[in-house]
Amino acid sequence: MCGIVGAIACRQVQGILLEGLKRLEYRGYDSAGMATLDDQSALARRRAVGKVAALEAELARAPLSGRCGIAHTRWATHGRPTVENAHPHFSNGRLAVVHNGIIENFEPLRVELEADGYRFSSETDTEVIAHLIDREFSRLGDLFAAVERVIARLDGAYAIAVMHRDQGERIIGARKGSPLVVGVGIDEIFLASDPLALLQVTDRFIYLHEGDVVQLCRGGALEIHDRTGQPVERAVVTYEHGDGAASKGRFRHFMQKEIFEQSEVIAATLEGRLASDHALSRAFGATAEELFERIEAIHIVACGTSYHAGMVARYWLEKLAGIPTQVEVASEYRYREVVVPRNTLFVTLSQSGETADTLAALRHAQGRGDYLGSLAICNVAGSSLVRESQLSLLTLAGPEIGVASTKAFTTQLTALMLLALSLRRVRQGDDPVAAGLIEALRGLPRVIARTLKLDATIERLASAFGEKQHALFLGRGTQFPIALEGALKLKEISYIHAEAYPAGELKHGPLALVDGDMPVVAVAPNDELLEKLKSNLQEVRTRGGQLFVFADEASGIRESEGVTVIALPAVDELLAPIVYTLPLQLLAYHVAVLRGTDVDQPRNLAKSVTVE
Ligand code: G6P
Repeated sequence: MCGIVGAIACRQVQGILLEGLKRLEYRGYDSAGMATLDDQSALARRRAVGKVAALEAELARAPLSGRCGIAHTRWATHGRPTVENAHPHFSNGRLAVVHNGIIENFEPLRVELEADGYRFSSETDTEVIAHLIDREFSRLGDLFAAVERVIARLDGAYAIAVMHRDQGERIIGARKGSPLVVGVGIDEIFLASDPLALLQVTDRFIYLHEGDVVQLCRGGALEIHDRTGQPVERAVVTYEHGDGAASKGRFRHFMQKEIFEQSEVIAATLEGRLASDHALSRAFGATAEELFERIEAIHIVACGTSYHAGMVARYWLEKLAGIPTQVEVASEYRYREVVVPRNTLFVTLSQSGETADTLAALRHAQGRGDYLGSLAICNVAGSSLVRESQLSLLTLAGPEIGVASTKAFTTQLTALMLLALSLRRVRQGDDPVAAGLIEALRGLPRVIARTLKLDATIERLASAFGEKQHALFLGRGTQFPIALEGALKLKEISYIHAEAYPAGELKHGPLALVDGDMPVVAVAPNDELLEKLKSNLQEVRTRGGQLFVFADEASGIRESEGVTVIALPAVDELLAPIVYTLPLQLLAYHVAVLRGTDVDQPRNLAKSVTVE
């Protein structure tokens, strides 16, 4: 994932920008670059393929002078990771641009600019932005106005930072679909795609809104225009998250903290990957679009919680994209004579990207030579799985410390929904169903935040499980894998034996176990299977089982003797698996706390299983 840092400071900016890039390294990237304007208004840049350390070595050899500059880490989408494709991109040696995101209409724009005499020196979509702004600047003589004019012509998602030799020490930033923050210093001003990049110089930030364009000038002056071009004031907020991932902050356990981060990290996983009414296929890699057109089948392979994400994705991929999908645990996949239909994409899902079984399955699949290609959906940039797969999409859950996976799972689901929507679009173009889902996805972080407010209710519920030996989880359709995940969470951290069944299977065996000592948890969003699920629940009730039903506010399931109903916010049926995971995570967490187990490091389990 790309990163942006910019600075207009009272001191030389090379060190500030370099430190900013290092702080963004966790997001994953394959090249890096920096440009500065020196005191004589000369524009210069350095770029390097690979780690920020390679850029640092280049800068040690040939330092950049100047108190105004922009820098970037690039994750290749248009064109390979080469020095020529690395940012900043220049236009006519006088304008520099760094860009996060994807410009979908770059091809016609490139043709137009070439006809106008612009020569391209990279394969990127970004260079189009550089030349467009350069041309507009020549007409208007004002960089702020030129950027505003140009962004109106860009389709897709972006955050950009721009400097021009003839505009003195000035940086223009703009965002749509990708984050950008202004860091406010003392007589100094900064810009970055993530506040983390700037914590070494300030803790005061202005979070730019969607469509905002900002002009930063020497002395810390700034001006912001909203999406309609009107000047606006945006609040300066003090950053209070402390040093993030490594500390538990106000939480008692990492797992609890990670459960509560889900609204934020789902928003991060969506950032820069959604256009107004569709998901951006390019987010999966430079060759994704071309490959997606040929997919006729999908095999998903993963372990543990990641495997459950794959099970949900099967419903989505078949329903939304009409692609036959198989899901298998990695340790089984390798030892089976798998039949690979023509044009099958091999997908791995993993938080760590280092799970031995998943990695071995990928190598096995690649060794066969008959898959169309491979895609890794993973939370760790630069992990083996990402490096060895043809395509990849990073979930931006941030480091997950608790052994029991939580935020990695819901961000995997978010990424898999983007995959299903991208593949649907390849097959049938834009349509209202997809547009509705995109809208619902945008609202998802808010629904997640509302759902987390159930924490106290669920904590009270936990006492009903504290003394039990067993629990049963039921779901139907996409909620069956969520029931599996709920049962897995409970057994991992509270050591209560828990099993999950598709609700329709209850009568074929597990019903024999149901009595007053067996709590039964059902996940029942208001989808087409609800009526059927209601009768399954009756089967439990008549055997004296204690029922705990997580249901949509509008489901019509009522509380009664032995039936506790926990109402969840209304959510699009297809996104319900993401939302319904949360109360089950909270339930497992509170039961484990009640039982006094080691929540973050449960016995016998490891976070990353790198042995077979
Ligand atoms: C271990 C962890 C699980 C995780 C599984 C797969 O068993 O304890 O929480 O789901 O590995 O890990 P991965 O990193 O590949 O998602």
